[in-house]
This record gives sequence, structure tokens and C-alpha cells, in this order.
Amino acid sequence: MLTQEIIRRKRDGQTLNRQMLDLVMRGIADGSIGDAQIGAFAMAVYLNGMNRDEAVALTESIRDSGQVMRWDDLDLAGPVLDKHSTGGVGDLVSLVLGPWVAACGGHVPMVSGRGLGHTGGTLDKLESIPGYDVTPSDETFRRLVKDVGVAIIGQTGSLAPADKRLYGVRDVTATVESIPLIVASILGKKLACGLETLVMDVKVGSGAFMPTEEASRELAEAIVAIGCGAGTKTSVLLTDMNQPLADCAGNSLEVFEALRLLRGDGRNEERGEGRNSRLYRVTRPLAAEMLLQSGIASDTEDAEARLDRALDSGEALERFSRMVHGLGGPADLAERPEDHLATAPITIDLDADRAGCISAIDTRSLGLGVVELGGGRRNAGDAIDHRVGLSHIAALGQRVEPGQPLLRIHAAERADAEAVTQRLRRAFTLSETDDVAIPPLVHATLREGQSA
Ligand code: URA
Repeated sequence: MLTQEIIRRKRDGQTLNRQMLDLVMRGIADGSIGDAQIGAFAMAVYLNGMNRDEAVALTESIRDSGQVMRWDDLDLAGPVLDKHSTGGVGDLVSLVLGPWVAACGGHVPMVSGRGLGHTGGTLDKLESIPGYDVTPSDETFRRLVKDVGVAIIGQTGSLAPADKRLYGVRDVTATVESIPLIVASILGKKLACGLETLVMDVKVGSGAFMPTEEASRELAEAIVAIGCGAGTKTSVLLTDMNQPLADCAGNSLEVFEALRLLRGDGRNEERGEGRNSRLYRVTRPLAAEMLLQSGIASDTEDAEARLDRALDSGEALERFSRMVHGLGGPADLAERPEDHLATAPITIDLDADRAGCISAIDTRSLGLGVVELGGGRRNAGDAIDHRVGLSHIAALGQRVEPGQPLLRIHAAERADAEAVTQRLRRAFTLSETDDVAIPPLVHATLREGQSA
């Protein structure tokens, strides 16, 4: 069948079957279909949508457009599972969760991405660690997934290659915001990793990828239906991004934070740090959902008990250290992070200019502040400065007095810090009264056939 006939069908509101979608995705992957037809295909889907069977078929076609990982020959002792997030600010969940779940008996082949827009990327964070190789050989990746239980690496060219071109064309043809295209893009890549279980973290709020809570929920429902339809047990936690998840954002700052949590060192829980932090209180239910859905744990209490043991015993930290060392990083990173992780030469506190209670945070704007400091990219391929970012970010509901810091800026030059202060200050809304409604950290859990 000719590509233009497949596009015509979709343009006219008819459905496409797996064979047709395979033809288009294969043609995109091998270069035989040009950008004009890719753009027309994406626009036809954008305008007419897809029913569930079509979206499942598109996901499978993207998954199968390149290498699909297999794990059955490795005789693994536990299930193959992963977590993926729609992206946030101060969202370092993956750095903690991957080793934590590995310490509970899971095998986590985590293929992660770089920062996108205002959101940080797990790979950029890991590259703050000197020597850490995000593109190891297949053999090293598989060995670490088997022996350590976790390896976090970057996407290879052979994994879901149709998505790379399709996403690039969508980006410049106003066709990114289509639920079936988004879901097939996210899940096509993830399912190519050969997962039995996937837990998605779909963010809600001022720093989320989707613009409204309704849109986040619609995306979440589609992810559950399409992931399960494509044969991977998929559930979603809708989690809050109305403020940065950690109280810091920036690449090496977030690696420091991950180590603090994994080490369980005595941060002040009264002040909402350590195990009372938002980061911990989102990472733990995500990890528990993975243990539950994969059958490692029999119920939520069992999952939480296993997670507590893995953290308290130091096993989760140990897995993180073995992964880092196995991928070329220093063997003593966990013991001496300050010897290895670079820090910014300039730190400046951004103080509140009046008293008030923090009633809203424009999280997206804080993320863009990190990008402007050099912690993210203005253009694809730009080098980034791993040292820069924000820390001590004040929380929603916190009262500040004039002269008290809203956050601390970590910059390469004083001028860089001064250039972002207006944007960062405007990101905080202060109210006179203290009765600020704090959104829940986990808005909902969605599983096949049920929502909570
Ligand atoms: N992330 C992806 O990988 N794909 C999309 O389409 C949107 C976000």
C-alpha cells in the first residue's frame, strides 16, 4: 500500500491497522518516507485522533521499529520493570528509585533522556559524575541489569528509531499535543526495553508537561489502557508538580540530594527533609507500586516493608554505588561526593522582598531559570554546566519575612545569577494569609480496570 493512501485514510477519519502502521513506522525508521509525509501523517492523527486499538498498534509499531530487548536468556531472579516520568523540576526520583527497587529484587533496565524544555533529564544529572558512561556496550548494560539489578543509560540509535524522526517532525509541525502520538512515543521507547511492568509518573501542576490537571488525567488513562493493551502491565501515579519535587534543581545538586536520601543521613525531618521530604514521599509510593504490580510484594504493606529494609540496611545505596562504578564512575562517590561532584563558584541567596506565605510557585519558570543559568540547553547539542542550579527552594505554604531566602542560586558567574533573579522572584506568589491549600503529593493511582 502506498504511504499517501494510508495518510489519506487517516485524513478522512478512517482507522489504520497494524500492517499499515508497521509500513509507515518502518519507512520512517529506514528513511524511505520523507519529512513531508511524516508531517502529514502526524497532522492527520492529530486532527482525527485514534481509537484504542489503533493507538496500541501504533505503540507496537514504534516499539518494533528497532531492537527490542530480551531478557529471557539471562535467567534473571526477579521481574524486569521500570518507571518513567513525564518530566519535572527537581525530579530526581529515578536516581533513587532504580537502585532502591533493584535492592528489593527487581531488574531495572532504565533508558533515560536528557533535559527537555524546562524539565531536567536523568542523563544530564548522571553525567555530573566524572567518568559515568551513559552509552555503555550492550554487554555491560545487560551484565549490570543482571548482577546489580539496575543500569541507567541513554537511548541507543537502535531503540525505537521511528520515534526519534517522528518526534523531530512533530516538534516543528505543531503536532506534539496529541494523546495517541504522545503515548505511542513514550511507551514505544519504554516497551522496547522488554519490560514486564511499567509504572508511569504523570505530573500534574505548574511544572507539568500537560497544561491542566484534566489533560494529565486523560494522558494517564490513555497510558494505562495502551500500555496494558500492548502487553506490559502498566499503571500510573498522578503526582504533584505545583512546586519542585526536591528543594533543589540542577544536575550535580540533584546527585548530591539523591545520595543524601539513599544514605539516609540525618537531615531535619521536622523541616520536611529526609524521609519527610516531598521527594521521599513520592519516590516511595512509585517504588511500592512497582513491587506490587510486578508481584515482588504481595500488598502495599509488604512493598513498604521491603523498601524500608532496603534503605535502612544500606542495600539501595550499595546498588547505586555498584551501578555508578560499573559504568565508569568513582568507586567512592557515595562516601565522598564532594571530592567528585563539581560545585558552582558563586552562590547567592535570593531573599523575599516582603513578608507573606508562599501560595503559588511557577515551577516551570524555576526550571527555565536553571536552563538560563546553563544547567539545561537552549539548543539541542549545547554543552551544559552541571554545577549550576537552585537549592534551598522555599516550599508552598512556607511563611517568609523580608530578607529571608526564597532560594539559593548556584551560578558560574555573578552576572548569570543576577540575570535570573527577576524571573525567579516572580515565580513565587506571596499571600497575606497563612491558609494556603497544599496539593496532595499523589493525586491518584490508575490501574487497569480501576482508578483510585
Ligand atoms: N515525551 C516523549 O517521549 N514523547 C512525546 O511525544 C512527549 C513527551
